[in-house]
Amino acid sequence: MKNIIDSITERMRQAFADAGYDPQLGQVTVSDRPDLCEYQCNGALAAAKRYKCAPILIAKAVIEKLDRADFASVDVVMPGFINLTLSDDFLTGCLEQMRTDAELGVEKTGAGKTVVIDYGGANVAKPLHIGHLRSAIIGESLKRIHRFLGYNTIGDVHLGDWGLQMGLIIAELQMRHPEWRYFDPDRTGEYPAEPPFSIGELEEVYPYASAKSKSDPDFADRAHLATVELQKGRAGYRALWKHIMQISVADLRKNYDELDVHFDQWLGESDAQPLIPDMVERIKSQGFAVLSDGAWVIPVSDGSDKTEIPPCILLKSDGSAIYATTDLATLVQRMRDWAPDRILYLTDKRQALHFEQVFRAARKCGIVPAATELKHIGFGTMNGRDGKPFKTRDGGVMRLEQLIAELHDFVRDKVIENRISEDMVESTAAKIALAALKYGDLSNHPTKDYIFDFDRFAAFEGDTGPYILYTIVRIRSILTKYGAYEHLPIRKTADAGARDLMLSVGRFSSCVDAALANYAPNLLCAYIYELAGTVNKFYHETRILSERDESVKAGYIALIALAKRVLETSVFLLGFDAPERM
Ligand code: ARG
Repeated sequence: MKNIIDSITERMRQAFADAGYDPQLGQVTVSDRPDLCEYQCNGALAAAKRYKCAPILIAKAVIEKLDRADFASVDVVMPGFINLTLSDDFLTGCLEQMRTDAELGVEKTGAGKTVVIDYGGANVAKPLHIGHLRSAIIGESLKRIHRFLGYNTIGDVHLGDWGLQMGLIIAELQMRHPEWRYFDPDRTGEYPAEPPFSIGELEEVYPYASAKSKSDPDFADRAHLATVELQKGRAGYRALWKHIMQISVADLRKNYDELDVHFDQWLGESDAQPLIPDMVERIKSQGFAVLSDGAWVIPVSDGSDKTEIPPCILLKSDGSAIYATTDLATLVQRMRDWAPDRILYLTDKRQALHFEQVFRAARKCGIVPAATELKHIGFGTMNGRDGKPFKTRDGGVMRLEQLIAELHDFVRDKVIENRISEDMVESTAAKIALAALKYGDLSNHPTKDYIFDFDRFAAFEGDTGPYILYTIVRIRSILTKYGAYEHLPIRKTADAGARDLMLSVGRFSSCVDAALANYAPNLLCAYIYELAGTVNKFYHETRILSERDESVKAGYIALIALAKRVLETSVFLLGFDAPERM
């Protein structure tokens, strides 16, 4: 089903065309003067210059031609606005179509298209930290929105599982346990299936080794060498690497599950390695790469760049592959296996240049065709209240698990105050904490830095996740009191508050479309904040359950039930859900 704006825009375009003007001028928008009308078209103003005619005359000519079937009123006002109010039948009909459709009447604009979303990006054996939080939260939401609009959507965590951190861990383990058979280069045969260390030990080893490599050049060399040997395939190191992967990935899954973030693919940098030799050979032989100070690089700057874009490094002078090489090989794999129409990458915006280089190199070398969109969504930093990147109280980088536990404690106290039954306290607190965290993040445009202020995020009033959940819980409780409601149709209404609510509910589909088109879940947040406000206003101003006219009451119930579904679906698209009570 077409959303309301698109279907009335279509009528308006037809009218512009029939009156002899460019149909593109017929775009309709939600009214910015709700006291005057519900929708408006400003196309006549834009047309005036082009057609050298007063806008008011153009507007009048256009509405002469307009098919008014969907409108209760069409007014032209100075200097040339076209103000529109929907007819009861049209609005009721649209909402009834939403109500009777399991997917709320959303048009599956992504059907037949495939999108890969590269998000999460955790580094194996290093604890998941706050820097990875935004990638997971924004990526998960964009994934859900794409899927909802019908795209075949593949979320890939793209683990950092092939870098120096592995060499650091292996070198440190070798210092501590030189007797382990993994370190005997002459050994042949199987290695044990069970890892000789736990996640706790692993998490202690990495920061220790990383710090040591900075003050101890000898150790740094050893770690580098271990990385090279691992990458060349030394059996004992490979076996250790597998153990590290096994343990860390299980731990990462647990962390992501707790965030309600779920990947379809658990591929990583290591999976791209086997594709590198052929790819490099081809790029060299086709002349796309040149030698520069012993390194193979792909020039990617073009004459129109304002600032020079440095070449994309394919191989370093020692012959080793780097981050960019791996990303190119990963593109080879993605095109081969999935032939996607779009690939989105979610990382910190400081990686913008890296992706610009990789994208250009991939196009130049024919790895990715022009028809496939490549897009890096570089997000801003999460800052503390002092405006500096978020840190723990002792000044360290906070681990995600610790952050979640703290948020949980904070919310739990509030939940207990609200007298939630004891067995529900934990799950309720978990849901509210997640909503507070995710909405606090997603309500900002992804590229913006924002201040992490959990007091504000967790408030039950205001532009927050808990406020949205609270509204859902409130509607559910009214519906429970009413009884069976699922069969009730949407009805016309004479109540102004109900009319506002109908208009707000009716905008759902166009807001989801806009959130996807702009890769901006914050648009969906802004929409549900407004919708929740309209629901609560209606609730305060109208007797719903005590309405005496049964058919009017049934209409109100059908309407708030639909609003509830819209809110529930929206929070699902943002990546959280509502508790039973709160
Ligand atoms: N592991 C990387 C990091 O922690 C993020 C990976 C992003 N994805 C990619 N294809 N490069 O910064």
